[in-house]
Amino acid sequence: MMMGPGSGPGATMRGFTRDRSVRDHRLRQGTGRRVVGYGRPFRSDIGLFLVLTIVVAALGVATPLLLGRIIDDGVIPEDRQVVIVLGVVVAVLAVLEAGLTVITRFYGARIGEGLILNLRTEVFAHVLRQPIAFFTRAQTGALVNRLNTDVIGAQTAFTSILSGLVSNVVSLVLILGALLTMSWQITVLALLLLPVFLIPAQRMGQRLSALTRQQMTLNAELATRMTERFNVAGALLVRLFGRPAQEDLEYAERARGVRDAGVRIAVNRVIFLAGLGLVAALATALVYGMGGLMAVAGQLSVGTLVAMAALLGRMYGPLTALSNVRVDIMTALVSFERIFEVLDLEPLVREAAEPVDLPDGPVDVELEGVSFAYPGADQVSIASLESRPELETGAEGADGAGVLHDVTVRIGAGQLVALVGPSGAGKSTLTTMVSRLYDPTEGAVRIGGVDLRTATFASLSRTIGVVTQEAHMFNDTIRANLLYAAPAATTEEIERALRAAQVWSLVERLPDGLDTVVGDRGHRLSGGEKQRLAIARLLLKSPAVVLLDEATAHLDSESEAAVQRALDEALAGRTSIVIAHRLSTVREADQILVLDGGRIVQSGTHEELLAQGGLYRTLHDTQFRTERQTPTC
Ligand SMILES: Nc1ncnc2c1ncn2[C@@H]1O[C@H](COP(=O)(O)OP(=O)(O)OP(=O)(O)O)[C@@H](O)[C@H]1O
Ligand SMILES: [Mg+2]
Repeated sequence: MMMGPGSGPGATMRGFTRDRSVRDHRLRQGTGRRVVGYGRPFRSDIGLFLVLTIVVAALGVATPLLLGRIIDDGVIPEDRQVVIVLGVVVAVLAVLEAGLTVITRFYGARIGEGLILNLRTEVFAHVLRQPIAFFTRAQTGALVNRLNTDVIGAQTAFTSILSGLVSNVVSLVLILGALLTMSWQITVLALLLLPVFLIPAQRMGQRLSALTRQQMTLNAELATRMTERFNVAGALLVRLFGRPAQEDLEYAERARGVRDAGVRIAVNRVIFLAGLGLVAALATALVYGMGGLMAVAGQLSVGTLVAMAALLGRMYGPLTALSNVRVDIMTALVSFERIFEVLDLEPLVREAAEPVDLPDGPVDVELEGVSFAYPGADQVSIASLESRPELETGAEGADGAGVLHDVTVRIGAGQLVALVGPSGAGKSTLTTMVSRLYDPTEGAVRIGGVDLRTATFASLSRTIGVVTQEAHMFNDTIRANLLYAAPAATTEEIERALRAAQVWSLVERLPDGLDTVVGDRGHRLSGGEKQRLAIARLLLKSPAVVLLDEATAHLDSESEAAVQRALDEALAGRTSIVIAHRLSTVREADQILVLDGGRIVQSGTHEELLAQGGLYRTLHDTQFRTERQTPTC
């Protein structure tokens, strides 16, 4: 049995979300129009594709009719010439149909893959620009999985509906028209067979979709689990705290679920296909039985009989496909809608309509009356992607609470400000205001007199350099990681930066030198090495403002001295905010800010603050790591 593009049982069973919940899903207004918008760039392709699809469908109906004519006008009257001519015509049509099918598929693929490309790049660009808070909330595995499945789901549905709907409707209309003109009695009888097949087929379709959906969910869980466990940080956690045997058990249980669903899907699919074949065979028997009697009685020609049998065989495929078309369309729209949900997330931090560049060269940094609260889940995340949505209501209050309160600081160009305070005081949060990872809830942050909300992203990223405690690296070579900050840097410049950051001797010793791969998240380097590499990265970029979170981990005195020299280099001549954990940093600072509960409670130089006593004195006595010489004060 032949079927039009996208009309076979394979296509019918492919929709993974096909089930009642999808069919009864209420779409948001405007989704349809928006989807059509995505087809717009492919207008001419789609037009051509539809025309070709119709032609191919028509050719599929023409062939059985011609076969009937060969018998009636050629074989029975024993007219050799008619047989030959019509035979050749059928052959030509077959070649034409094959050729056109290839071209149709080409356009179909171009539209579908083009759509994927557009959706993918749009989603990637959009998600990349989400605030950091979005990523602290979303489960990466689930997010990636979901974006991939939905983009492909949207594409599949878009093209299969486009081709399936059109070619099936056209085929069906032509076939039914032809059948009715040949013998309405047989046609009606054959149609009576339909419900016998269609009703169980629909039910089977629903069962299959429920199974497929279940398998998808389990598969997604497996994938998420793997992404979480199969990176250095996750694997370390399992090794140090976990019970590998328990992990194995849990994984195997889900994997078994996938297997069971897979087996049931296969069995159901085969039953479905066998049923389809059976009904087609019954219909053929009916046509030959009834039609044969009519032919004997002289009411029907033999050729018509053969043509009808062939046409009937081609009718059931489109019919089944069309019986599910509503669900197909809904599935597509739901996929689109879930993508739109991501695309509609407003990035909290946006570039102004007419942004200005921050001034070059040494700049001052000013925070004026800055208050800040981390955004709540409703502002930054997709409800359906929260890993544990049921817990969210409880967490909301914590997010809403202010982290910074009325912070005012002026840092002159080239000055060094040390930020100290107890854990959770808001020190890291304060630096995110300056790098504009977040915008303050109240007040303003200005660099070189320019409010960051009006600055260009490009100049902001040029001006600001950050070294965090974790000093993240991509799993790539040292060279690539450094070039990420300064794509145009030459090998000499890289070497100079590495020397200044006191890591050149290490890189030199590595067998692959600059081309050594640092490992997932840079785990193949020690904490101190990683931080010095991050400093080298910063030096290459040469920003005017430096934000630095000093390592709290204790380094041996040699690495300590190396980091110190690297820092001296990194901070020289730049406006710097350093979250200080070391006495030497606070001693050198032009200004020390003591942060507690999101407020600046003390400020001044080391000597002034020591004389004042208060929180600084306590921190000084308990928290600062003393290097070699003990503080004298
Ligand atoms: N992404 C976030 N979403 C919600 N709350 C956050 C987020 N990051 C930090 N907080 C909260 O904000 C407060 C200040 O955190 P912050 O990281 O600024 O502290 P810190 O002074 O840098 O502490 P530490 O010295 O331990 O690094 C904390 O109560 C913390 O729980
Ligand atoms: Mg911190």
